[in-house]
Amino acid sequence: MKESLELMKNKALMAITQAENLEQLEGIRVQFLSKKGEVSLLMGTLRDLPMEERPSFGAEVNLLKASIEEALYDKKQILEEQALAAILEKEKIDVTLPGYQFYQGAIHPLNQVIEDVEDLFVGLGYEVAEGPELENDHYNFEMMNLDKEHPARAMQDSFYTDENHLLRTHTSPVQARTMLEKKGKPLRIICPGKVYRRDDDDPTHSHQFTQIEGLVIDEHITFANLKDALLTMVRHLFGHDRIIRLRPSYFPFTEPSVEVDVSYQKKDGTLGWIEVLGAGRVHPRVLEMGGYDPKKFQGFAFGVGVERIAILKYKIDDIRHFYLNDIRFLSQFKGVNR
Ligand code: PHE
Repeated sequence: MKESLELMKNKALMAITQAENLEQLEGIRVQFLSKKGEVSLLMGTLRDLPMEERPSFGAEVNLLKASIEEALYDKKQILEEQALAAILEKEKIDVTLPGYQFYQGAIHPLNQVIEDVEDLFVGLGYEVAEGPELENDHYNFEMMNLDKEHPARAMQDSFYTDENHLLRTHTSPVQARTMLEKKGKPLRIICPGKVYRRDDDDPTHSHQFTQIEGLVIDEHITFANLKDALLTMVRHLFGHDRIIRLRPSYFPFTEPSVEVDVSYQKKDGTLGWIEVLGAGRVHPRVLEMGGYDPKKFQGFAFGVGVERIAILKYKIDDIRHFYLNDIRFLSQFKGVNR
């Protein structure tokens, strides 16, 4: 019996010494020490021994068990250290290697114009409003005083998804939506967004472009308030030496309506004009449909072409640059305006 104990001890310790990893070590533990392991089986042979030999044999088996446990424990420490060292080695960082270069992004020029105009008008007490790009014919046209037969609908040829829905042709439907939302209370909003028009003839025109709508409704709003808002915006965007020129125009949703030109200095030193937006006093029908009493309330509205502004401000020669996502173009707008 003694010999078999000694043999088993040697066998176990040998296996432990040779174990190469923690899985193997666990296998050895199970092999010898688990409930059905070799040491337990040995303990089971106890009852085959004469009574007087049992206590000393039991004590021997316990000693065997203890020495296997100790060897397992020591080997486990070593293997764990080795495993950790291997991980550290694998994850070692060479701080002397050159780093990755992170490029600083730039805000898209159209968004810079939008943010700039928003900043100005929010400072003047306006709220920023938004509306859906897939719009109801009702808001896009009807509530803007363009009924189904209105000839001006042809000027805003559009993309319909079904009889009643289209990609909005201007940001003006947000006027209607906001008026209904405000339920007859005075309002001042600015509303930037994408708009869509079918334009098959001219390849330099984009079927998608960007507008900023402005709308003010209150009591005692005059045309002078509109002129002031427009001049303030133009000077904020282009500088304080600019002046504006208002030309009579027509929009179904404003009356009277104007087209607004911004002055610029031509190469020969003379004064030139560039059209940048449409505007006017809110048409009484539009007020009425929006839930405002036109006898009590007046308003003005304007719609700015953001691409126009960006082209002028940043001297861009082709509108298509805005949509091509060419990083060489976009990266030129880093830190502009900030
Ligand atoms: N909605 C007009 C357009 O897209 C612009 C505009 C807005 C004109 C508000 C007057 C008032 O052409």
